[in-house]
Amino acid sequence: MTAPDVGTDLVLTERRGAVGIVTINRPDKYNAISPGVVDGLEQAFTELWDDRGIRAVVLTGSGRAFAAGADIAFYATADHTDFAAYTERCNALCDRIASAVVPVVAAVTGVALGGGFELVLSCDVIVAEHNASFGLPEVALGLMPGWGGTQRLTRLIGLNRAKWMIMSGERLTAAAAEDLGIVTRTCERENLLPVAVQLADTLANQAPLAISAIREAVTAAVTHSSGFRLERQRLATLFDSRDGREGVDAFVHKRPARFSGR
Ligand code: COA
Repeated sequence: MTAPDVGTDLVLTERRGAVGIVTINRPDKYNAISPGVVDGLEQAFTELWDDRGIRAVVLTGSGRAFAAGADIAFYATADHTDFAAYTERCNALCDRIASAVVPVVAAVTGVALGGGFELVLSCDVIVAEHNASFGLPEVALGLMPGWGGTQRLTRLIGLNRAKWMIMSGERLTAAAAEDLGIVTRTCERENLLPVAVQLADTLANQAPLAISAIREAVTAAVTHSSGFRLERQRLATLFDSRDGREGVDAFVHKRPARFSGR
């Protein structure tokens, strides 16, 4: 049974005092980020950001994953225009999360892959259960990250570690991600949401203007670069390449990809 790609159930919103909780809810597809999920995330964040009572947000996924990235089934049917529009929206969403007035805590269970990891990288604080893993596996599809991952990951863990992760597609365990400074706190799975809400509460209780100004200043240290635009351009080229089409088709049809370098 395929989860519907329409309707508000794809993203759930809850309020706990001054903390808003946004949950990606497409569990049978590992919370893959379809256009419908993007609609839901945009709506959920807009509502929470418009609510002056909300001072921190937790972003998480339902079921066994945070999110397995962009919806490859959508890629399989999208033309260049659909793909470009989707990529722009996802970039705008990540940028809005990274630059919002209120801080965002990512609570990661299971996998955060591709765009799922890029969403996580846009957050301020990352809490992960011990079995969580993180990766940018787009290379296996003949593609590359396109929602700021090449930029944010590189700034966070350094040039060569980022190149290895992105070129190999290798995943990091929660412990390795903590060692590299990606993850702020690890915990047991059953404690994930309580720990994330507790950290969000800590931030929600600080002076809101100070938190907003600190976020803006710290984020400015690492975001002003033409690299983001270059990343989007290169991904669009790869999406139109034979290898990009081959990688997506191979995933959808559950077969190994055969890349020709064209
Ligand atoms: N987009 C669309 N559907 C996805 C998906 C994605 N990113 N990730 C998983 N799914 C779907 C699978 O197609 C499958 O659907 P089905 O039940 O209708 O066949 C379902 O989720 C379960 O995935 P499956 O691959 O059978 O589970 P698994 O436990 O063997 O592997 C993952 C889980 C997440 C490791 C694997 O699905 C995966 O590698 N996903 C792609 C990750 C990726 O490349 N992300 C970047 C995208 S640009």
